[in-house]
Amino acid sequence: MGERQGTLWKKTTIQRRSMTSVPDFNCPTVQLSNGLQIPVLGLGTSHDGGYSHDAVVFALTHCGVRHIDTAKRYGCERKLGKAIQESGLSRDDLWLTNKLWPGDYGYKATKKACLDSCSEMGVDYFDLYLMHWPESLKPGYSNSEMRAETWRALEELYKEGVCRAIGVSNFLVHHLEELKDSCSVVPHVNQVEYHPFQQPSHLMDYCRKEGIVFEGYSPLAKGQVFNCPIINQIAKKHARTPAQICIRWSIQNGVVTIPKSIKKNRIQENCQVFGFKLQEEDMNALGRLHDGRHVSWDPTSII
Ligand SMILES: NC(=O)c1ccc[n+]([C@@H]2O[C@H](COP(=O)([O-])OP(=O)(O)OC[C@H]3O[C@@H](n4cnc5c(N)ncnc54)[C@H](OP(=O)(O)O)[C@@H]3O)[C@@H](O)[C@H]2O)c1
Repeated sequence: MGERQGTLWKKTTIQRRSMTSVPDFNCPTVQLSNGLQIPVLGLGTSHDGGYSHDAVVFALTHCGVRHIDTAKRYGCERKLGKAIQESGLSRDDLWLTNKLWPGDYGYKATKKACLDSCSEMGVDYFDLYLMHWPESLKPGYSNSEMRAETWRALEELYKEGVCRAIGVSNFLVHHLEELKDSCSVVPHVNQVEYHPFQQPSHLMDYCRKEGIVFEGYSPLAKGQVFNCPIINQIAKKHARTPAQICIRWSIQNGVVTIPKSIKKNRIQENCQVFGFKLQEEDMNALGRLHDGRHVSWDPTSII
């Protein structure tokens, strides 16, 4: 992989611990502005579609997954802690992202929520902790005041080492610009909806310019990509599946991606994206599929 997102790509072979069944899994990483390396592919765990303990354990022990994306909102922190423990992997072999829900925004509440989430998952720190959404759910405060106050707490959690990196999710350029005025740590990551139908190129350019790693969620558009003739054609040409094409497309664009499945065979399939390359004409055809649709949330109206 070359230079992407203005950050360095590093190919890492994730170390096997006492796991003989885990295949070597060369997952590239993207470098954050503080030097940390986030694996470019992770496993999503949102509440949509449920949770499977066996599938998470399988992802960790048989597919080489080392990056898990979760949130307090998804309601599976404790279950994930159990799956991680059962996998036998050590904490420092994993990249764990968690997210702070707006109901917990505010200086004191943020600190408490983060420590509570750590304890739910049975860990001492998160690799990445994100403000989930730019809107405050607390009456009596403007969104902008609440974001600044919450961010101050995240900066302290970062300095204390409870979070190795901090970031935001669903933030648009104006939210990031405003935060820039008051913050001392620029968000390391912005996690935003990203798939062939939703390519926020202006936001991506802004993040690249500011040294904020752009991470994409809902890479399969929650299943909508499977009906697209162009994606199916490209999949046929490469003898791959439409899911693999979309995940590979994110990765080739330098975007960290976190597809979710609760089915073992699909998780395995979604991880098999490093043994082929999309050609320029495929990348261009996928790049033309943007139609602006959101399958998750649209933060456009949040001031
Ligand atoms: N920050 C945010 O606000 C935010 C918002 C949304 C999502 N996220 C994160 O991003 C993750 C991924 O996004 P998402 O869950 O919304 O959607 P997604 O990953 O785009 O799609 C998930 C859907 O695709 C199906 N699927 C997965 N792999 C498949 C395959 N190989 N073949 C066929 N179907 C497949 C899954 O069904 P099965 O489970 O039945 O396989 C599920 O219905 C979330 O889990 C969450 O961690 C973050």
